[in-house]
Amino acid sequence: RTVSPTGVGYDGPKDGRDPRGQAGDKLTTPNGVRLPDTDHSLKAGPRGPVLLEDFHLREKIMHFDHERIPERVVHARGAGAHGVFTANGAGASVTRAAVLAEKGLETPVFVRFSTVLGSRGSADTVRDTRGFATKFYTKEGTWDLVGNNMPVFFIQDAIKFPDIIHAGKPHPDREIPQAQSAHDTFWDFVTLHTEATHHTIWNMSDRGIPRSYRTMEGFGVHTFRLVNEKRETVLVKFHWKPKLGVHSLTWEEAQIAAGVDPDFHRRDLYDAIENGAFPEWELGIQVFPDTPEETFEGIDLLDPTKIVPEELAPVQPIGTLVLNANPTNFFAETEQVAFHTGHLVPGIEGTNDPLLQGRNFSYLDTQLTRLAGPNFTQIPINRPHAPVNDNTRDGFHQQAVHTGQAPYTPNSVDAGVPFPSDWSEGGYVQVPRHVEGEVGRTAPASFDDHFSQPALFYKSLTSVEQQHVIDAYTFELGKCYEQAIKERALTVLARIDADLCAQVATGLGLPVPKKIKVAKSRSESPALRQIRPTPFPI
Ligand code: HEM
Repeated sequence: RTVSPTGVGYDGPKDGRDPRGQAGDKLTTPNGVRLPDTDHSLKAGPRGPVLLEDFHLREKIMHFDHERIPERVVHARGAGAHGVFTANGAGASVTRAAVLAEKGLETPVFVRFSTVLGSRGSADTVRDTRGFATKFYTKEGTWDLVGNNMPVFFIQDAIKFPDIIHAGKPHPDREIPQAQSAHDTFWDFVTLHTEATHHTIWNMSDRGIPRSYRTMEGFGVHTFRLVNEKRETVLVKFHWKPKLGVHSLTWEEAQIAAGVDPDFHRRDLYDAIENGAFPEWELGIQVFPDTPEETFEGIDLLDPTKIVPEELAPVQPIGTLVLNANPTNFFAETEQVAFHTGHLVPGIEGTNDPLLQGRNFSYLDTQLTRLAGPNFTQIPINRPHAPVNDNTRDGFHQQAVHTGQAPYTPNSVDAGVPFPSDWSEGGYVQVPRHVEGEVGRTAPASFDDHFSQPALFYKSLTSVEQQHVIDAYTFELGKCYEQAIKERALTVLARIDADLCAQVATGLGLPVPKKIKVAKSRSESPALRQIRPTPFPI
């Protein structure tokens, strides 16, 4: 037996087993007392009452009673895997972040894929957006890229997030549906808040029912700012491209899989990795000049409901992700992992996208409750792979035994430790940005264009894919009880494509709306202009 370096407690055996959980081969209580029997409670005679002095019974049941933690308020159902990200060096000209810049550098990662709306026990293959969250354990601290499998989002301002989620989650009265968009409140929201039109049509397309996690693209959605060694900046959008290509299920396949094997995606990911068929993605960036307008070819880069077509700004590969190990404990890894858009490392910054700004508040806030206190970076899956000396102390579930007397910087009591780092020493120093404006609940005028990109998306599909979109709208809207909501949805579809609107109306048995305001033509809309490649060299 040894005494720990901190002088506190017992470090356990040196065989790699967790000294707090599974040391030794004898059954014990949580306090290390060996037990002769864990199957019978302590009684006064074989038929007698159970005695309160049975501390083992009380501890065993008390712990079991508290085994469940709250599921995530969104993205509750997920599956994760460990892997490695290798930079190819192309990122060096635009960012100082070693994880993206240093050619050949291997950074360990943990990825969690998820559905958004369903609860932990819901089926994998429902029509929904999928989360694609990656934790990079970089040598400069932890960086999280918390993305989705769709490049746009329903809303432009985080203040609406509680509203869209209230609308998408099951109806408060009947708890229907569990994990689909086929109900009144969802369609009520997306037809009244028409900035949701673009994300919604992606959901109604084959992208809403991916074949597997291994064949999904991932998107950072927001525009981020990269900073290089010379403190020059560019704006970027992150893209994950699966090496296996992008593949979807048909609606019929998705329905059958949800019944026959609700764990279809979770099983596929686990089995593939177990069998050595490691899924791979290329990480690429679209790069834009960092101009004061923060637009590119007329597209507002701060609007998370807009994409920049790849023909306008090609996706340039900067590294490869390989998932090569399954979790050994779902709870400790997949469930306890805590992603956060504010986990950034020097060389990667956010932008003023109002959706991103709100997310930066939300993740920490929710994890404070979900993971019961402020010390969740000490949970094994969340521990940084860079040294931590942060002056935080105490709090619920504190695991560290801090030493010293002066948890503040600067100090003269603990020899000045820990010292701050400036930019040249690898410190996270924001690039100076000019900010001014009148305070008000406002948004840029460009945020009012809700239909040109959904129209562009629909036009880009093959006729088979378009038919799938028509079928999906018809099926999902067909589940609405309120006729008025269906009719409003048709007026939205009319602004995307007249034929799409007419076919869905026919499918629903409703008249085609009389006045169809057709989406802007290519020549009218900068976003729809004839596309031409203008790569930004990196
Ligand atoms: C969880 C993505 C918008 C709040 C997640 C997860 C992903 C994700 C992938 C699952 C993380 C995991 O696997 O643990 C996105 C994307 C968004 C977006 C791509 C928009 C572009 C928002 C907004 C808010 C928000 C606007 C709030 C204002 C949350 C919360 C969780 C979550 C509270 C649960 C986190 C936890 O319990 O650990 N999001 N999200 N998200 N997201 Fe978002």
